[in-house]
Amino acid sequence: MKEKLEAIRKQAEAELDGLTSPEQIESFRVAVLGKKGELTSILKMMGKLSAEERPVMGQLANDVRAFIEEKITEKSKEIKEKEMQKEIDSMPIFDVSAPSDLSRGSYHPITLVQRECENVFKSMGFAVENYSEIVTDYECFEALNIPKHHPARDMQDTYYLENGQLLKSHTSAAQNAIYKKYRDSLINDGLPIKAIFPGRCFRNEATDACHENTFFQMEGVMVDKDISISNLIYFMKTMLSEVFRKDIKVRLRPGFFPFVEPGFELDISCLICGGEGCPSCKHSGWLELCPCGMIHPEVLKAGGIDPEEYTGFAFGLGLTRLAMMKYGVKDIRDLNSGSLKSLSQFTDDE
Ligand code: PHE
Repeated sequence: MKEKLEAIRKQAEAELDGLTSPEQIESFRVAVLGKKGELTSILKMMGKLSAEERPVMGQLANDVRAFIEEKITEKSKEIKEKEMQKEIDSMPIFDVSAPSDLSRGSYHPITLVQRECENVFKSMGFAVENYSEIVTDYECFEALNIPKHHPARDMQDTYYLENGQLLKSHTSAAQNAIYKKYRDSLINDGLPIKAIFPGRCFRNEATDACHENTFFQMEGVMVDKDISISNLIYFMKTMLSEVFRKDIKVRLRPGFFPFVEPGFELDISCLICGGEGCPSCKHSGWLELCPCGMIHPEVLKAGGIDPEEYTGFAFGLGLTRLAMMKYGVKDIRDLNSGSLKSLSQFTDDE
């Protein structure tokens, strides 16, 4: 029996050496260690041995079993590693130092227009402010003279978070914070508040060629003693003719916004159709570009500024619309499409 066990050990070792797959290992394991395996059938013959021989042979059989099990584990590991290496070798070579054949990226048309507007306003002494996309109901509505249940809220249905905050539906949502930030220097040092704050806005909209649920605006405010509508018109005209690099046709219509009084809509003639009418301008020949007006006394008050002493103007420039006009984008949805084919046409000439 001793010789038989030794023979099994030797044979198993040799056989295992030639195995190359996990399946082969498994059938080998069954053939040697399984219920009907070679080693098991020898163990069954133990009963026939004498009382002295039995423990010695039992010990040897256990050693052989442990030896074979260990060899099987080793071999399985070796085969797995080899398979993994094969897979790695078959992968395409990725050389991080190889020169890229991707073409250069380009700035998004809205970024280009935003920067251009920022530069024009900066040159006129405006500070550029950044503001959060998530705001409170107070900032977006209450502080802007839009109490709960006011019908003006219907126009600005947006996306609400579970904690009651919301995605800002217009950049005016930053007005309150801007007034509070600058009011001390306005009141104590006599410095006017002159700030623009561009940002992404969200509305629950049915989308079409001129409506999107995500769009960009640029708010601007100026507050000081004796600010009037003439100041507003001057800044708007200067900025637009700089951006379009020509005198563009504009018109002012009365417009209602609870946070300005009086309020206006500033339209520019549609640059896509030249004023004849197309889907981008809702066939009117005009594009609503910039709602604006004199800041409502209640809004100044909410920002800690005395409306008896100070006045100001505010405007909400539609950066998305402006980009469409400037670059002749016919469908607003192209701007958020992520389509490089459409967007890479706009190169930065700075
Ligand atoms: N926040 C307004 C809107 O998005 C636009 C606006 C801004 C109007 C500033 C007047 C003054 O509809």
